[in-house]
Amino acid sequence: MIGYGNKKIWVLPGVYKPAEDSFLMVEAVLKELRPSDRVLEIGAGSGIVSAFIKDRASVIAIDISPCAVKCAKLNGIDVIRADLFDGIKGRFDLIVFNPPYLPSGEKIGDWLDFAWDGGEDGQATINRFLRQVKDCLTENGRFLLLVSSLSGVDAIMERMTSLGFIVEELLSERYFFERLVVLRGRMKE
Ligand SMILES: C[S@@+](CC[C@H](N)C(=O)[O-])C[C@H]1O[C@@H](n2cnc3c(N)ncnc32)[C@H](O)[C@@H]1O
Repeated sequence: MIGYGNKKIWVLPGVYKPAEDSFLMVEAVLKELRPSDRVLEIGAGSGIVSAFIKDRASVIAIDISPCAVKCAKLNGIDVIRADLFDGIKGRFDLIVFNPPYLPSGEKIGDWLDFAWDGGEDGQATINRFLRQVKDCLTENGRFLLLVSSLSGVDAIMERMTSLGFIVEELLSERYFFERLVVLRGRMKE
């Protein structure tokens, strides 16, 4: 179990242990969230981000990993197992994703690989997410996406712009070996 803010979060084996990226996303969400928002979290992991959202707005979460789904449920999150937006019907005011963003290295060979492995350049899952997210956003909906200097912040911002989003850096933090940034995307009016 780990503690953050006023929360105690169970972390089961095979599930991403909340770290600096998770905490930065929690802070970004608390800055961005409006009580009227209907929220979707992709890649819930332990459920730490949704646990903070749940106190303030309605949220459902998704993860591809059965271990993560079990763990997020244990932490009281309404979560389903799916690959990104597969099977999701309806639109959301806010979509949140702390994705796997590391360029492929050695695989562990279990569900935890899905927590880190972002493909050859670290952007594989991010790019799939960006191609699909618009179809699940309400008219004035926005999304928060955590990215790292290890997978190329500028390239991802450029891709978001070319897909028709207005992009802003909502929050960022520099660490010893990387810079983490929470990007906010919304459709151009
Ligand atoms: C970096 S972890 C973040 C976990 C948690 N949100 C946090 O901040 O601590 C990424 C999560 O995304 C999930 N994930 C990876 N690819 C996915 C996909 N295609 N669809 C749904 N979830 C996915 C992983 O299983 C993992 O739980």
